[in-house]
Amino acid sequence: MPDSSPDASPPSDSPERHLITAALPYANGPVHIGQIAGAYLPADLYARYRRLQGEDVAFICGSDEMGVAILMRALREDRSPQDIVDAYHPHIRESFERFGMSFDYYGRTTSDVHRETSQSFFRLLDEKDAFKLKTEEQLYDPEAEMFLADRFVMGICPVCGFEEAYGDQCEKCGSALSPTELENPRSTLTDATPELKETTHWYLPLGEMQGDLEDWIDTHPEWKNNVLGQVQSWFNEGLKDRAITRDVPWGVPVPPDVAERHGLDAEGKVIYVWFDAPIGYISATKEWAAEQGDPDAWKTYWQDDGTRLVHFIGKDNIVFHCLMFPAMLQAHGDYVLPDNVPANEFLNLEGRKLSTSRNWAVWLHEYLDDLGSQYADEHGDARAADLLRYALAATLPETKDADFSWDGFQQRVNGELADVLGNFVNRTMTFADRYFDGEVPPLEDPKEADREVLAKMAGFPDTIGDLYEAYRLREAVFETMNLARLGNKYFNDTEPWHTRSSDPQAAANTVHLCLQICASLAILIEPVLPDAARRLRAMLRLDGVRTSTPGADPAGASGWADAGEPLLDAGHELAEPDILFDKIDDDVIEAQIDKLGSTDDESSELESTDDMESTDEMNDTEATEPYADLKDTIGFEDFMEMDLRVGTVTEAEPVPDADKLLRLEVDLGFEERQILAGVAQVMEPDALIGTSVVVVANLAPKEMFGLESQGMVLMAEDRDGTLSLLTTEGEDGAVIR
Ligand code: MF3
Ligand code: ZN
Repeated sequence: MPDSSPDASPPSDSPERHLITAALPYANGPVHIGQIAGAYLPADLYARYRRLQGEDVAFICGSDEMGVAILMRALREDRSPQDIVDAYHPHIRESFERFGMSFDYYGRTTSDVHRETSQSFFRLLDEKDAFKLKTEEQLYDPEAEMFLADRFVMGICPVCGFEEAYGDQCEKCGSALSPTELENPRSTLTDATPELKETTHWYLPLGEMQGDLEDWIDTHPEWKNNVLGQVQSWFNEGLKDRAITRDVPWGVPVPPDVAERHGLDAEGKVIYVWFDAPIGYISATKEWAAEQGDPDAWKTYWQDDGTRLVHFIGKDNIVFHCLMFPAMLQAHGDYVLPDNVPANEFLNLEGRKLSTSRNWAVWLHEYLDDLGSQYADEHGDARAADLLRYALAATLPETKDADFSWDGFQQRVNGELADVLGNFVNRTMTFADRYFDGEVPPLEDPKEADREVLAKMAGFPDTIGDLYEAYRLREAVFETMNLARLGNKYFNDTEPWHTRSSDPQAAANTVHLCLQICASLAILIEPVLPDAARRLRAMLRLDGVRTSTPGADPAGASGWADAGEPLLDAGHELAEPDILFDKIDDDVIEAQIDKLGSTDDESSELESTDDMESTDEMNDTEATEPYADLKDTIGFEDFMEMDLRVGTVTEAEPVPDADKLLRLEVDLGFEERQILAGVAQVMEPDALIGTSVVVVANLAPKEMFGLESQGMVLMAEDRDGTLSLLTTEGEDGAVIR
């Protein structure tokens, strides 16, 4: 039962040391929610959770400012690369801050410290003979007079056949590539067919390093399946040596002394961006340590075995964080290796792939501008951020691609944040305010139901914490909401509005315990809803809680582990009740849906960004997605084998457990068919009913999810995967030919 003031959690003897990184975003455009769901939000949830546990956290990120992605935008816009990164670095940093990202340090890879750090890393590996030098013919654009590295060349992926694979990576299958591996290469600068020209480069001999990498990966059977699966398939293919220098005019220069060792000229040669960027985590940690007044502190995080290094990334970064960077760290020898790389899959938007060039994206800064301005106070951004943090956390693409929709967002906010969490807090606070003078009533002679709820509350910090530690963040957030659900149920079951007159102590007990649950929630929701947690603590006047952001905790602070115990004393005075979450109106949602795909009001209010969309196409695979190849010619008879009929959809409903399928009843005039169609993510069942569709009527029946599909409904698939139903005229049963 509540004892003296909020209890200090016993300081854990030796807090665990966590070095948490989130992928450094390229500073060549604003950040969108796909990136947030992939890497940044998960990293922030995790870092805040660890800090609330009282652990020692360094949460590091920064802008990735080197590399061909930046140079390409610069060339396209006729600006200098420096100009590009100088515009986007502060913009991205600010969006992250408004979103509540709790980085200890946000650096940039154009810094002096970064140049020195990556150059000495490179030098040390060179001196250890960890590299191979190879003089080879490489793709050269005779028109642009430039070697075609990385994204300057596109062609057919030798692994999966994707036609728009880049010289360094296929974004379809994730394979790491070299430009010369591409079939039918072409220059993305001039569209010219490249020539071959001789040049010398440093290679990381991943082929020779595969054995060590395999041994190390074997020590991590606990990693996520999607990550281990990708890694395993690269091992199966056999790792290839990777060039880690480039002949391009933007990047960390190859140190002249290192080139001289080999009798070479460093002029015009830079370090490959995927070599320097992960070292950016190290240089940012150095800058952070210096800023803290303890310049050597970075070594503890990077070089002491007690550190748990965790990289949060999206799935397109797996090869670099699970193989290449670890290989570099192993070769160096002084560094810890990642303890986990919990990569996420991709986030779709309204059932379609995100596309920055088509503005099929939600830009973080625009979201905050639009939704944050609804609130009158100075915390508008933080309040709006909470809603998006919650909605995204609830749909993180942790094991498979996931879909964000604005209706889903509204549903999460209105049906969960407002109706479950907000409602529980509000009814508890209002009751305490009205009937108990705004004080915590005493708990006396608790009944069975009271003891039960207290016992259940005690289990939440561990249950939720275990999920965070297993990187099951979506479930962690779901379980957090279950504490509010428990509170609501207990409130309903104990009916304080009745017991208030029939058994006042029973009502007091209910309110006492509901307030304790509110106090617990005020800590446990903090990772996902930091602003709501702040406001809830203010309502409860719950002070002395550990901070989930960088900075010192109040003395004797209570943290995560204390959130299972009652934190409020009887007689403790509460502040005024306040609404925790307002519902989102339909017009707000409609306005956001309207913005999608529109190109007039764009993410381009950034200074001197004249032509954002056309340049974005360069980074966007879908913009140039090829038409599907024509199939082989068939005879007229072959075509006539197919029995196509008109039918009317009479019923449509989701198939339980199948995310993608709808079960349709289709009337063919002469008979009814049950047909399963993979359109659940793009079409509302109700919208289908009454539609005349084209049915392949003589397709052999097929069983899926325990249901027989008796035919197929025809659809058109756009190059970006968008599906639309083929509708038709004619009576049911009409033959189509
Ligand atoms: N800039 C890269 C991307 O957006 C990520 C770099 S992560 C780092 O895909 F490790 F290299 F820093
Ligand atoms: Zn591929």
